[in-house]
Amino acid sequence: MSSLSQSVQTSDVRQLGINPNHWYVVARCTEVTNKPVGVILWHQAIALYRDSTGKIHALEDRCPHRQVKLSHGQAIANELECAYHGWRFNSSGECTAVPYLAANQKLPNCQIRRYPVKEQDGFIWLFPGDAESAVEPMGLPEWEHLNYIASVAVINCQAHYSYLIENLMDMYHGHLHQDLQAWAAASLKDIDEDNHRVDAHYTAQSYYKIDKIWSISQLFFPALRKLHPEPLDVSYIYPHWQSTLGKDFKIYCLLCPVDETQTKAYLIHFTSLNAFWRLHKLPVWFRRFIKDSLFNAAKKLLDGLVVQDVEMIEEEQQAYLQNPQRRNYELNRALISVQKLMRSQVERLG
Ligand code: FES
Ligand SMILES: [Fe+2]
Repeated sequence: MSSLSQSVQTSDVRQLGINPNHWYVVARCTEVTNKPVGVILWHQAIALYRDSTGKIHALEDRCPHRQVKLSHGQAIANELECAYHGWRFNSSGECTAVPYLAANQKLPNCQIRRYPVKEQDGFIWLFPGDAESAVEPMGLPEWEHLNYIASVAVINCQAHYSYLIENLMDMYHGHLHQDLQAWAAASLKDIDEDNHRVDAHYTAQSYYKIDKIWSISQLFFPALRKLHPEPLDVSYIYPHWQSTLGKDFKIYCLLCPVDETQTKAYLIHFTSLNAFWRLHKLPVWFRRFIKDSLFNAAKKLLDGLVVQDVEMIEEEQQAYLQNPQRRNYELNRALISVQKLMRSQVERLG
């Protein structure tokens, strides 16, 4: 490939790779039980499993014997056993046992890659980079906090991750969700940006105000909602996204880019109960009970938003594949900043 075509390729944001020196989210904690789970993070197949103490490990999802997926196998004590011939691998990725090894045979000297992995705030964070640097997972401080009710939706879209991030950073697309009443009349006021993040500050009209205990029912009954102005801040904190609408809502999108035309992500919505100061005086067990009983209260809304967004994002991807040279007309300068950040994160890898 000539250097010219190479530079054309990397400058096309729809072909960009990822910067692996960050923590990505590959699964929810509840998805990985004692059965291994296979996930894909940017072309890399990874097997997640829990050992007998409940600790999570991540190994390359490939048995070096015959190249089948290790995630078909089972966890035994601290090791992962391949389904096919029963070879076993420890959490460092070394082969530790072959069931039919003859007395005069040595264990094969094969090694598969292990990935640093952490469980934090309900999700499994994985570091696909070379050197585990000082960076920490972004984390969701509201996940355990008793004043926040969480709802989770999964996004699986056949599109490059840039389409998803641009959708999330462009609040003018509230137009698409009018029937779901998420927000209205967004207006971009200001942008802050550096090498790690883009913060776009909008004002918008919100339909929800959570100031009485029964106002949670606004999540279920549209007739109770009234439009009122609130600040709407959205941030691309590479490689993830977060947003706050007024004081009552916080949303995160945690990304697992699969390849150039596929992205998995988790959308986590938090409704704040901070306005109910009396609630804070109640016993912790009761507050925990409220938090747990209302888990996924906003899921229907989230799922509805995701269906609408994914339809648009996938159509953009298809249009790009059919006519990659066609240019968009972009009026939202937050999206220019977002593309700049995506490029610089990948280009700094050299
Ligand atoms: S392919 Fe895994 S043990 Fe044979
Ligand atoms: Fe949306």
